[in-house]
Amino acid sequence: MEFFLDTANIEEIKRINRLGLVDGVTTNPSIIAKEGRDFKEVIKEICSIVDGPVSAEVIGLTVDEMVQEARDIATWASNVVVKIPMTEAGLEAVNILSSEGIKTNVTLIFSVAQGLMAAKAGATYVSPFVGRIDDMGEDGIELIGNLNKTLNNYGLESKIITASVRTIGHLEQAAVAGAHIATIPGALLPKLWSHPLTDIGIQKFLEDWEKVPQKN
Ligand code: G3P
Repeated sequence: MEFFLDTANIEEIKRINRLGLVDGVTTNPSIIAKEGRDFKEVIKEICSIVDGPVSAEVIGLTVDEMVQEARDIATWASNVVVKIPMTEAGLEAVNILSSEGIKTNVTLIFSVAQGLMAAKAGATYVSPFVGRIDDMGEDGIELIGNLNKTLNNYGLESKIITASVRTIGHLEQAAVAGAHIATIPGALLPKLWSHPLTDIGIQKFLEDWEKVPQKN
């Protein structure tokens, strides 16, 4: 499974990239707004730090607006991916962009049907939002499994990015369900490598080490 970081915070990206854990980055308008910086500048900076794909979202809602924005965003860096919302206009834009070789990530997917439409339109990535599905009292992870099976059934090549990941359970279950990628908020990631028993174990080893008479 690949790990993307769901953040535009440069320090967070650099820190986790040093661990070799960042396969890509995803952003959205809310994530960009948190940084209080110029959109293009921040995306270009992230693209220069991370080797993998970096998603930057369009704001326009018509086909023409989305395609125009996407063509511009695609010139910012060789590893940029254009995020397009899951609408009829979005599908048309994805179809045009995929014929031009521009990579897309179709976002705000909440059903198998939406994922299937996006994949057929030519999306490079499809992003189901598991946390927001759970918020509605439904099962986000079930969608990941069903969408994965559906894409496999028909040999569709779009990769599933599990998005709106809120818990370690989301990540683990998305991996079991066959998602290619999980995009993880910076605050959640340290919880993936931490465990209280690890901390207790280190403490105990250090205490016992003090009892060793000769330490050389
Ligand atoms: O990856 C999508 C994500 O940024 C949205 O997360 O927690 O606002 O549903 P959330």
